[in-house]
Amino acid sequence: MRLLLPFVVLVSLFAALAQDAPKKQPQAPKNLKLLQASDIRPMMGAFRAALGVQCTYCHVQGDFSSDDNPKKEIARHMITMMREINAKFPDGKEHVTCYTCHRGAEEPLTAAPAQ
Ligand code: HEC
Ligand code: HEC
Repeated sequence: MRLLLPFVVLVSLFAALAQDAPKKQPQAPKNLKLLQASDIRPMMGAFRAALGVQCTYCHVQGDFSSDDNPKKEIARHMITMMREINAKFPDGKEHVTCYTCHRGAEEPLTAAPAQ
């Protein structure tokens, strides 16, 4: 009896954890045209930081698969452009990122401030 109680507690704890697991698993992406599913987590955080925006700057709140926000399609063009630029480096490495131009701004400065 003395051993049974901790055992029961442990079993119910595992049962509770197992029940929670599926809820925490993110949905598989349904609308990727350029990126791999494994890119999503690291790249979306990088986009947010590079442009200094929230996720909903490019996404419809509550439906990340939707293309109704036009900024998402602009971002796709930017991904393609970035890949083309990187492909032209002699070592083939990724030297240019969103941050290279954007530096935390939605619209990068393209001219020096007036003197
Ligand atoms: C600068 C615009 C931009 C920002 C900011 C951004 N995303 Fe995205 N996101 C995209 C684009 C573009 C795609 C589609 C990529 C493709 O077509 O391969 C995408 C795809 C996704 C997908 C896959 C959806 C599906 O079902 O296909 C998820 C999930 C996602 N983003 C989450 C996030 C989260 C979470 C954040 C905030 C941390 C975020 N995004 C910020 C542009 C953005
Ligand atoms: C070579 C420089 C460069 C790189 C790299 C770059 N961008 Fe841009 N981006 C720009 C410029 C310049 C503009 C403003 C263009 C305009 O005003 O039409 C812009 C505009 C945008 C816009 C629209 C902003 C608005 O005000 O509507 C989004 C969204 C965007 N970029 C996302 C990205 C993402 C995501 C990446 C990385 C995958 C990226 N950009 C990489 C130069 C760049």
